[in-house]
Amino acid sequence: MDKLVIKGQNKLKGEVIISGAKNAAVAIIPAAIMADDVCIVENLPNIEDVKCLYATLDKMGVKCEFLDNHTMKIDSRNLDNVSVTFDEVRKMRASYYLLGALLARFKKAEVAMPGGCNFGSRPIDLHLSGFAALGAEVEMQGEVVKVSAEKLTGASIYMDTVSVGATINIMLAATMAEGTTTIENAAKEPHVVDAANFLNMMGAKIKGAGTDVIRIVGVEKLHGAQYTIIPDQIEAGTYMIAAAVTGGDVWVKNIIPKHMDSLSAKLIEIGVGIEESDDAIRVFDCGKELKATNVRTMAYPGFPTDMQPQMAVLLSICNGKSIITENVWDNRYQYTDELKNLGAKINVEGRMAIIDGVDSLKGTSVDATDLRAGAAMILAGLCARGETIIGEIKYIDRGYEDVEKKFALLGADIKRVSM
Ligand code: EPZ
Repeated sequence: MDKLVIKGQNKLKGEVIISGAKNAAVAIIPAAIMADDVCIVENLPNIEDVKCLYATLDKMGVKCEFLDNHTMKIDSRNLDNVSVTFDEVRKMRASYYLLGALLARFKKAEVAMPGGCNFGSRPIDLHLSGFAALGAEVEMQGEVVKVSAEKLTGASIYMDTVSVGATINIMLAATMAEGTTTIENAAKEPHVVDAANFLNMMGAKIKGAGTDVIRIVGVEKLHGAQYTIIPDQIEAGTYMIAAAVTGGDVWVKNIIPKHMDSLSAKLIEIGVGIEESDDAIRVFDCGKELKATNVRTMAYPGFPTDMQPQMAVLLSICNGKSIITENVWDNRYQYTDELKNLGAKINVEGRMAIIDGVDSLKGTSVDATDLRAGAAMILAGLCARGETIIGEIKYIDRGYEDVEKKFALLGADIKRVSM
C-alpha cells in the first residue's frame, strides 16, 4: 500500500506546471464516442480517472490509444455496444456521461450507477429528468440505469439545482436531438465551457456555455475533432494554497488566471501576495501573519467546493476565527477529523465549519477520505511541524498528476513509499 511521507515546514519556491483539467477530461473523453469517427484529445492529465475511462472505452469496443502520456486517440468507428455495466464504471462519478453520449448517438444506453468521492448522497435525478424531457424512457434496474428513445426532441429544461454533471449530460444528449434545446440555470464551470467547445469542434451547434442559458440546435451527425483541454482550475488552486500555507513564493504556470479569481481574491483578503501574468499566477509574500476570513462555496464563478478542504488547511493556521459554509454538498467535512488529529481547531455545525487559527499543525499519520481531502492532507503535512504519513493516496492519484514529483520540485520533502 503506497503512502506519502512528508517532513513539513519547507517553504515552497519556484514554478509548477499545471496539467489538463480532470473534470473537463472525464466529460470530453465520453463525448468523443458520439462521432462515428476518430478524435484526438490533447493535454489530458496523466491520472487514474483518465486511465479508468480508457479501460472503460476499450471494453466497450472503442479503439483507444495513448499517443503519449497526455494525448488519447479515440476511434469510435464501428462502435455498437451501448451496455456499460462492468467494474470500471463504478470506480468514478463521471461514468454517467456515457449515458448522455450513447443516448445521443444510439438513442439507447445502459450504464451502471457511478461511484466517485463519497461525501453524502450524489443523486443523478436531474440528469435523468433532463433525458426524459428530451423524450427518453428512463428505467432503473437495480444498479443499472437504462435510457432509450424512438427519437430525441429538443426541449426547454430548467435546472432545479445548478449541476455541472447534469448540465453537461443534458448538453450531450441534446446535441443530436431534433430541434432546439435550452438549458436554463445551467452550470457555468470552465469544464462545462470546455465540453461545449469540444462538441462544437465535432460539428455541434451549442451557444451560451458559460452563461445561465445554453442553447443547443440538434444536428444529425458529429465528426471527429482534435482538441486540447483547458488547464485544471482545482489543481492550480491546490498549488496556490500550498505556497500560502508554507510561506513560500511560487509561480503556478500554464493556467487561465480568470478561472482562479475567487481563490485569488480570498488569498489577498488573507494577506497573501498575488501577481498575475497571462498564463500564470505568482503566490508570494506569505511569510507574515495571515488573517482569518470567511468562505462560502458556490457554483462557478463562486468559490469552488473542490477547494474547500484545501482552504480549511490554510484557515487553520490563519490568525483568528474563520467560518467555511459548504453550500454545494451535504457532507464534505469528513476530512476535518483528520485535520483535528494534525492539531487544527475546527468544529463542524451542519453546513458550517468554524475554525480557530493555531500557530502551527503537528505531523501525524492520517488517511485521505476522498480526492480533495487527500490534497488537503498533503497541504497540512507541508506546513506541519515534523513528519506526516498519508494513507489511502489512491484517492489523490485519481486527480493529481505526479503529485509528489511536482511538490518535490518546489522544495517539499515528500516521498511516496510502499508500506
Ligand atoms: C462535479 O460533480 C465535479 N465532478 C465535482 O468535483 C464537483 O464537486 C461538483 O461538480 C461541483 O462543482 C466532476 O466534474 C467529475 P453537481 P457533479 O451535479 O457533477 C446536486 C472533484 O473533486 N445534484 O454539480 O456530480 C448534488 O447532490 C469532484 O473533482 C442533484 O441533486 O456535481 C450537489 O448537491 C468532487 N441531482 C449539487 O447538485 C443531480 O442529478 C451539485 O452537484 C445532480 C446533482
